[in-house]
This record gives sequence, structure tokens and C-alpha cells, in this order.
Amino acid sequence: MPKFQENALILDHREVADRTWLMRLMSPKIALEARAGQFVMVRVRDGIDPLLRRPLSFHRTFPEEGCIELLYRVVGKGTLLLSKTVPGMNLDLLGPLGNGFDLPAPDARGPIALIAGGIGIAPLFDLMERIALSNPAFDPQQMNLFYGTRTVAELLALSYFGALGVRVHWSTDDGSFGHKGHVTRMFAQFAEDSAFRPESLYACGPLEMQFHVARWALAHDVPAQLSLESLMACGLGACLGCALPAASPDDPAADGYVHVCMDGPIFPAGAVQWQKLQVHRPPPPIFLSD
Ligand SMILES: Cc1cc2nc3c(=O)[nH]c(=O)nc-3n(C[C@H](O)[C@H](O)[C@H](O)COP(=O)(O)OP(=O)(O)OC[C@H]3O[C@@H](n4cnc5c(N)ncnc54)[C@H](O)[C@@H]3O)c2cc1C
Ligand code: FES
Repeated sequence: MPKFQENALILDHREVADRTWLMRLMSPKIALEARAGQFVMVRVRDGIDPLLRRPLSFHRTFPEEGCIELLYRVVGKGTLLLSKTVPGMNLDLLGPLGNGFDLPAPDARGPIALIAGGIGIAPLFDLMERIALSNPAFDPQQMNLFYGTRTVAELLALSYFGALGVRVHWSTDDGSFGHKGHVTRMFAQFAEDSAFRPESLYACGPLEMQFHVARWALAHDVPAQLSLESLMACGLGACLGCALPAASPDDPAADGYVHVCMDGPIFPAGAVQWQKLQVHRPPPPIFLSD
């Protein structure tokens, strides 16, 4: 799969929810090759500080126009610097990287579940668009998006999903909109109450959320594709910094590693040893000054 380093022109850049920015870039080579679930490594500014690129997933891709969109949450120095860039500037991108999601079979008709925790919505949007485009006979209402954030200010607006025609189930941890509580709880409750059994399940969000999704998928024998996160330095398999403990089908306790940038970021539910991961809550919002 070809990878490119492209100097991409920023076409549009705006805040669409609390600390959540949407950026549209002209990047024709990368746009042509990108698959949903893959990512780019972004140099957030020239020079050596910060030294490392930051991984961001494709939020939407427009191969014919040569454009890509990134949706990101400001959490630290790199993403804060990124949020200061403006249309007309250029960004150095490396991609597309990683494996990407497998789309449902062309004759798939049954329900699909997508679970997004916070900024985990970013790659799932591209995936939903591609599922709809790749299979015009597929009823978008069969796509059930379970989308949760900490509070209503972090949610993307309803209008954002309007054109897709998917069923959105909303949750917020503080109950400021939709179901009160974690998105995985809402999903499990919905599945139990309505005997909902998706033909396939896709998820992106914090590792703690993915742990619950994986447990549900394995217990109910539903094929799942989870986009897993890990801190990345190179994105290319060179630094081995993105390793997660791998589960061996023959011996679940055997030690081994998967590398999120090369082997993933998309994995089946049983690919990692969840019990060995330090499953913790995401860091609290930090104070951001100008
Ligand atoms: C394959 C992949 C795709 C991603 N796609 C997106 C995306 O589409 N949109 C988006 O907003 N973010 C995405 N991320 C996460 C994003 O890369 C990090 O939030 C970003 O690198 C943080 O950089 P920073 O300099 O702002 O923060 P830093 O100063 O590096 O870190 C600030 C805080 O964020 C935490 N953090 C940093 N990196 C990660 C990470 N990878 N996962 C979880 N917490 C992290 C740190 O532990 C720290 O507490 C993706 C990560 C991966 C691995
Ligand atoms: S980030 Fe360097 S090997 Fe994966």
C-alpha cells in the first residue's frame, strides 16, 4: 500500500464542538489511497518542537476533489498548536498509514452497530459514508451509531449526521443530553432490551471503552472491529513504541505484541490481552491558555 509525504494546503479549519476542530486539507495523493480507519502522521509545525508527528484518523475523504478532513480534540501541546493553524497554511502529512476497517459484504442487509466514545467519532463518520456509498441497497437506518461524550458541549450536533440517515443513540456521562452514563452501558442496555444483534460491530474510543465493547462482542459472538489507540512516535513500525500485548489463539497467556501502527489500528476483539492493558480513564480536561 503506497504511502506519501505531502505538503497539504489547509482549506478550512473551524471549531465544531468544545475543543473539537474540523480541518479540511488539499492532499490529492493521500486522499486517493485513504481507507476508512487509516490515519496520517501530522507535523504540527516546522522545526523540532514538538519533534514527533501526531497521529490523526481520516474523518472524511474526497478522492475526486483530492481533499481529506481531520477531526481532532485538543488535549495537549501538539493539538493545541494545530488548532492555531489557519486556511492558507500548509501542513506536512505522512500517510495513509495502518490497515483500515473492512466494509460489510456487498450483500449485507442486517443491522450494524457503531460505538463512538468522544473523539472516537472521527473515523466512524468516514466508515458510515463508505458503507452507504459502497452498498446503495443498504438501508442507512440499519446503521445504529451509539455516540457518547462526557458532556453535551463535546457532542457533534445532530445536523452533522442528518445527511447520513443513520440512527443515532446519544449519551453523555453527566446526563446533559441523551442517555445518562457511559456509551457502552447504553449500548448493552439497548441490545438487551431490544434483542439487538448486529451483524457487525465497529468501535473507536478510549481503551477502557474498547475493553467493554470487546467483552460484549466476544460474549455475544458478534464480529467486531475496534480502532485501538496507543502512543505513537513513528507510525511506520520503526520505533516499536506503539506495542500492545497480543493474545495468542493457542495460548492466551503467551507473551507477544501487536504494533498498533502496522498491525492496526483496527483489531478484532480477541486480538489483545485486555487483562494486561492498564485500562484507565482518559486524562481530565487540561487548562488551555492562548
Ligand atoms: C491511530 C490513531 C488515530 C488517532 N486519531 C485521532 C483523531 O482522529 N482525532 C483525535 O483527536 N485524536 C486522534 N488520535 C489521538 C491523537 O493522536 C492524540 O490526542 C494526539 O497525538 C495528542 O497530541 P498532543 O501533543 O496534543 O498531546 P500530548 O501532549 O502528546 O498529550 C496530552 C494528553 O493526551 C494523551 N494522549 C496523547 N496521545 C494519545 C493517544 N494516542 N491516545 C490517547 N491519549 C493520548 C496523553 O497521554 C496526555 O495525557 C489518534 C491516535 C491514534 C494512535
Ligand atoms: S509508532 Fe513506531 S512502531 Fe508503531
